[in-house]
Amino acid sequence: MEKVLITRRISENALELIRNEGYELSVYTESKDLTQSQLIEMCEGHTGLLSVGPNKIDEHFLSSCKHLKGIALMSVGYDKVDVDAAIKHGMPISNTPDVLSEATADIAFLLMLSVARKAFFMHKTIERGEWGFFDPMKNLGQELYGKTLGVLGLGRIGLELAKKAKAAYGMEIIYHNRSKNQEAERLLNASYVSFEELLKQSDVLSVHVNLTKETTGMFDRAAFGKMKPNAIFINTARGAIHNEKDLIVALENKTIWGAGLDVTNPEPMDKANPLLTMENVCVLPHIGSATEETREKMAIMAAQNIIKALKGEQMPQVINPEVYQKGELIS
Ligand code: DGY
Repeated sequence: MEKVLITRRISENALELIRNEGYELSVYTESKDLTQSQLIEMCEGHTGLLSVGPNKIDEHFLSSCKHLKGIALMSVGYDKVDVDAAIKHGMPISNTPDVLSEATADIAFLLMLSVARKAFFMHKTIERGEWGFFDPMKNLGQELYGKTLGVLGLGRIGLELAKKAKAAYGMEIIYHNRSKNQEAERLLNASYVSFEELLKQSDVLSVHVNLTKETTGMFDRAAFGKMKPNAIFINTARGAIHNEKDLIVALENKTIWGAGLDVTNPEPMDKANPLLTMENVCVLPHIGSATEETREKMAIMAAQNIIKALKGEQMPQVINPEVYQKGELIS
């Protein structure tokens, strides 16, 4: 009987789906990330890997695990995967797009509003016993009505956020992408602008691009320096897209007004990080897709993909379709 290794506890329905196809399961249930050598060792005797968490799928892993028929990631992001190496090894790899777009856009929206009204910081003042004398000139946030939302990477998640921002606050939508998003232009009257203009014009700038060589550190001192003093920076994509030291300086110097982060670099964030005590900053522990509904859909999608790989069929959400030629694996 062929076996699938799953690197975290996931939905029972997803496990059942794989078992019902006649495959055996090994589920790693410890609350500790596997090292790459542990993962390689655990993959022995398995033909499928359902990878949850920050497992590095690089040249070393792929050349050590040639016996796998496919790898299904339970995430939309695949920055831990060396896609070129996977193509070279003919290893099909899938992700879980679409099903988490609404949940992740909700977190971007929540951060945008929470930063604008200093919500997390205000909550902490109550905990510290500082809810005292009413001062009408204190604790003032800013409103979002009619402001400009700039989206870097207007794909599925960015579009969901833009729809919410337009519906809630009539926000003007501008975006910068590799290609124009006709749907957003038609539905939301969104305007395509250069990255430079996105920095200059956005009152809220939300990041929804993949982490790549080009986007690593894209938000640095120079980028923050071009933003408006009232601007709110939101990142729910990957922490390495912003330079954290430069972000801290930009907030301290009031180069920008505030920041909302669901992703940090590194993760987990150190509890002594200065961002956690700043008035106009809200940080969450990477919970973009963390709802019962979304995690269920992600687990089912990953299970469906690994089943296809084990059957030697094309994974529906394959990220490297180059490994298939006329429906057959290259290697
Ligand atoms: C994703 O799916 O990429 C989320 O960020 C969780 O890692």
